[in-house]
Amino acid sequence: MIEKKFGIIGKPLSHSLSPFLHNYWFKKHKIRASYSLIEAKEDEIEKVIKMIKKNELQGINVTVPYKQAVIPHLDLLISDAKETHSVNTINLNEKGQLVGHNTDVYGLEHGFINKLKIQNQENKFFILGAGGVTPSVVYALYKKKIKKIFVSNRTLKKAEKLKEKFPFVKIIEWEDIESEAEKMDVIINSTSLGLKGGSNFTQEFKKTKSSLIYYDIIYNPEETMLIKKFKKRKIQTINGLDMFIFQGQKSFSLWNKTKPEFDEELRRNIMEKLK
Ligand code: ATR
Repeated sequence: MIEKKFGIIGKPLSHSLSPFLHNYWFKKHKIRASYSLIEAKEDEIEKVIKMIKKNELQGINVTVPYKQAVIPHLDLLISDAKETHSVNTINLNEKGQLVGHNTDVYGLEHGFINKLKIQNQENKFFILGAGGVTPSVVYALYKKKIKKIFVSNRTLKKAEKLKEKFPFVKIIEWEDIESEAEKMDVIINSTSLGLKGGSNFTQEFKKTKSSLIYYDIIYNPEETMLIKKFKKRKIQTINGLDMFIFQGQKSFSLWNKTKPEFDEELRRNIMEKLK
């Protein structure tokens, strides 16, 4: 039997643990397949997607900044991908159509939102960033019937674009994030600030509610500078590791029709890789 091939496109890719995650599951499930980083420039996206159509690749994940850019090359968007206009998983269906899925929303639901004991739909959720993953964050909160969703982005235009799709979000100017953060119940970092080797927030966020929950979509490093700061103040923090694993679990299930396990052994292995 030939070896199935999967991969991930995006930029930058070097920090991605998706190859580790999927290859770990392939090995466990004795599936003859491999998963690799596919370095592709924007004008090479079409070529990569055509490889799926020709069955040279059995599926890909898509990460920033291509989650929207892949859409014109697909035949069909389903469920959360349609609602968010953001695709992170592609495969070919039985009819030979290229299908775009979004498993980030599932990842956010299982890795973050379901862990919150949301008793009050009036709680204020503040999303920092309006990049590639933000539509998934907004939609996952919307599905949970959260009513008060605020978004701020350094580049205001991108936040305004997001509001066209989700008119119920309220925009906050980037200059005001620190003062506005004081009123929030949950803060979600969906910017790239804090990513390993990158820049960090210059804001201190010292005067937030003591009941604040801080969620960082980043999982590499395991603790961003902001997570460390909040932890010192005994504020509850959650990082993006579980979301990452759950989105991967759903992609794997779509491709292989088998739901791989998410257990402590896997978590330990990934944490080891992050060191
Ligand atoms: P893309 O913007 O191409 O979708 P992304 O990694 O999904 O890529 O998004 C990066 C996010 O981090 C954006 O919200 C970006 O803000 P801009 O839209 O203004 O670029 C944010 N970001 C990155 N560096 C930042 C910085 N130094 N200060 C504030 N926000 C930053």
